[in-house]
Amino acid sequence: MEINNRLKSLPPYIFIELDKKKKAAIAAGRDILNLGIGDPDRPTPSRIIDNFRESVGKPSNHQYPIGRGSAVFKQAVMKWMKKRFDVGITDSETMCLIGAKDGITHLPLAFLNPGDIVLIPDPGYPGYTSGTLIAGGVPLAMPLEQKNNFLPDLANIPAEVYEQTKIMWLNYPNNPTSAMAGLEFYEEALSYAEKYDFIIAQDAPYSEIYFNTPPISMLQMQGAKDHVIEFYSMSKTYNMTGWRVGFAVGGEKLINGLGLVKENMDSGTFTAIQETAAWTLLNCDEEAGQIRALYKSRAQAFTKGLRAMGYEVLEPQATLYLWVKVPGNLKSMDFCTKVLDEADIVVTPGIGFGLSGDRYFRIALTVEEELISKALDRLKKVKL
Ligand SMILES: Cc1ncc(COP(=O)(O)O)c(C=O)c1O
Repeated sequence: MEINNRLKSLPPYIFIELDKKKKAAIAAGRDILNLGIGDPDRPTPSRIIDNFRESVGKPSNHQYPIGRGSAVFKQAVMKWMKKRFDVGITDSETMCLIGAKDGITHLPLAFLNPGDIVLIPDPGYPGYTSGTLIAGGVPLAMPLEQKNNFLPDLANIPAEVYEQTKIMWLNYPNNPTSAMAGLEFYEEALSYAEKYDFIIAQDAPYSEIYFNTPPISMLQMQGAKDHVIEFYSMSKTYNMTGWRVGFAVGGEKLINGLGLVKENMDSGTFTAIQETAAWTLLNCDEEAGQIRALYKSRAQAFTKGLRAMGYEVLEPQATLYLWVKVPGNLKSMDFCTKVLDEADIVVTPGIGFGLSGDRYFRIALTVEEELISKALDRLKKVKL
């Protein structure tokens, strides 16, 4: 039986060859350092685990989760949004998600009709494109260029494109470039969304992993709720990727659309996980601060070492990643294959995030500092 045309239109998995090489190297007993995956290496902080032990023991948490999130969870989100961004959110302006990815990939199903355009940052998280294609939409790349501080050039997008646009994805702090966006850019983006009546979906799972200034929320802007939905996640802020919990906040119509899709697709996040996530949002600023400081220290150590070797590293501002220029004229895949072959290190080729990423590679800061030193030593072996 053939899969349908929408699934066939998904981009091929371009890491196949690199993955095969990595697996073969591991099978051959080589000591491979994996700097490829953006999955925190440290466990969830112990106070969160202790809290969950209590939540999981309560029989009232064992049945189907209710609606778009438990009252306890939604109230915690409302308080967190107020405290963190001074943004007031009502009960109908938020919903619990099975991680941000759940919201990202389902939003297009709520709002796209066949042929609608979705503007997608390039380089960008692959879920924006796959969600669009599965919903029958047309993904169009918005290049993020170094000369524009990795912000899309919104004035350069033709009016005919904007007229057919239903969703524009933004993602700040940005994976993979680690760039941040400010109020001026968000105001410009919102003015286009108002003029051409499209949704801005701002994906913010790295909102708490910043190194200098805390990121702002687009919902701080007057009138933003008519057009903006934001996605937040517990995954990176609290080392909770495996728990699968995050949330969406935005205008009621946008939340309702996403809610309608999800109500027909899944039955929500385990209530005990929601209860612990709610407690975490309200009680674990200290843990979040420690995790933020850890990535900052790793980012600084790695950047210093790479720059000393002549690599051009974009100044890390946030996230778990370094975005580094591929040396010489190599393409990103060829360079990353060389790094695996000659230094036993896995890094991600920028092409995996879109065509505009092909002059770069991404390093995940998900190893301890002694392994960062080891990685830097090994990188010296790569013949450029
Ligand atoms: C930009 C971006 N959005 C969304 C996600 C998914 O986050 P979650 O674990 O909350 O589903 C990731 C995960 O790496 C990401 O990098």
